[in-house]
Amino acid sequence: MSADSKAVFDRIESEKEGYLEELKEFLRIPSVSTEPAHKQDVLRCADWLAGKMRDAGLTVEMIETDGNPLVYGEWTGAPGKPTVLFYGHYDVQPPDPLEEWRNPPFEPTVEGDELVARGATDDKGQSYTHIKAVQAVLAERGALPINVKFLYEGEEECGGEAIEKFVRADAGSKLSCDAVVVSDTSMFAPGQPSLLYGLKGLCYMQLSVTGPNRDLHSGTFGGAVANPGNALCRIVGELVDPATGRVKIPGFYDAVRPLEEWERKEFAALPFEEAEYKGELGISETFGEEGYTTLERSWARPTCDVNGLWSGYQGVGAKTVLPAKAGAKVSMRLVPDQDPQTVAGLFSDYVQSIAPSGVTVEAEYLHGAGAVLIDIGGPIAECAMQAQEEIWGKRPVRVREGGSIPIVDVFAKVLGKPILLLGYGLPDDRLHSPNEKFNISHFYNGIRTTVRVLDLVGG
Ligand code: BES
Ligand code: MN
Ligand code: MN
Repeated sequence: MSADSKAVFDRIESEKEGYLEELKEFLRIPSVSTEPAHKQDVLRCADWLAGKMRDAGLTVEMIETDGNPLVYGEWTGAPGKPTVLFYGHYDVQPPDPLEEWRNPPFEPTVEGDELVARGATDDKGQSYTHIKAVQAVLAERGALPINVKFLYEGEEECGGEAIEKFVRADAGSKLSCDAVVVSDTSMFAPGQPSLLYGLKGLCYMQLSVTGPNRDLHSGTFGGAVANPGNALCRIVGELVDPATGRVKIPGFYDAVRPLEEWERKEFAALPFEEAEYKGELGISETFGEEGYTTLERSWARPTCDVNGLWSGYQGVGAKTVLPAKAGAKVSMRLVPDQDPQTVAGLFSDYVQSIAPSGVTVEAEYLHGAGAVLIDIGGPIAECAMQAQEEIWGKRPVRVREGGSIPIVDVFAKVLGKPILLLGYGLPDDRLHSPNEKFNISHFYNGIRTTVRVLDLVGG
């Protein structure tokens, strides 16, 4: 390691308490992008972030959009040197169910090595590492070894289109760079860093079933009027074949790119314990498409799952009512080369074709994202891998993931530059779940990793 990084590391060590306090401030802002009630919090969060980016030494610009603002920052004082674009999102998922949190979701709590709060790992904690790394280097040396750009969005969790519009319109002018770095994923296991080369895409649908013009007495009308709740369950029950685990929508698999032999071999060689996986989740069996392992199913095969379901009476006790309406939210996770719009069409046609008579069925496309497979080669990827190896003590493994980061596909297409998905989270970070956490040591090691990326790419 160069002597320079050492001085920066000493600075990080002496300032680490302050860094953590700042992250806690970030986490205290409930920037839930899916809920209109939190609009002001989302805006306040963007402002807070812009301020911290300025403090770090970046030139910052708030980019207004039709949706939530983008926060852009840059330091371009290293002409002739490469430029790295860091992406992150400052919005978070809703915290519900609230009663399952040990502490309130927006009051970050330290529990041993873990910082527990909504957004701790996804993506405030992870992405803040990049800002602190740049700040530490600038404070220590007054300059960075390379040029950096930052782009934060506030709609990643709600399928917002603001960033996509901006990136497409920019077409690589303001965002021109040599590589993109994203920390919004997980390491394969504690102590085992990973470099992701694949993310799933998404096609998110809402199903609405309507029957009679009002809720009815279920004794008087039950058995004589088609029940939207029953109808919805029948439709949902026909989405996946329980025997084979395969999605039954005709044409669904047409564009699916099969797993390659080398991937199957590499996945199989990873230290993955089925028993541990089941134990951690509290399930007795895994489920999925026949002929594939759990890692293959979650990383590289398309899926169809209910994400939400409602109809009729939800309160305590029994209310005898035949519901007038029923609804479901269904996500299909896609793999290359499935197209979200095409899949939405196939889904709609299929549910119409199996709709029970006596009810009306509507399928609405809420949002989607393309799947990505990235070629992780080239000098900057090499630097990232070396940085990970130095800081985490192991060479990163190549993995894919089942989650989606919609803008990554757009970056790949519009910028055409390597995208390095350096995840600092852990598989048990409970993102989107109650008691989300980020290991505090990972926060600091993430900062150190970014410092090494800067120095290695610059040298
Ligand atoms: N950071 C996640 C994506 C992720 C999670 C990648 C785990 C790899 C491992 C991201 O914030 C996310 O949750 N994305 C959404 C996208 C959707 C709302 C369009 C997702 O995957 O559900
Ligand atoms: Mn995220
Ligand atoms: Mn998320």
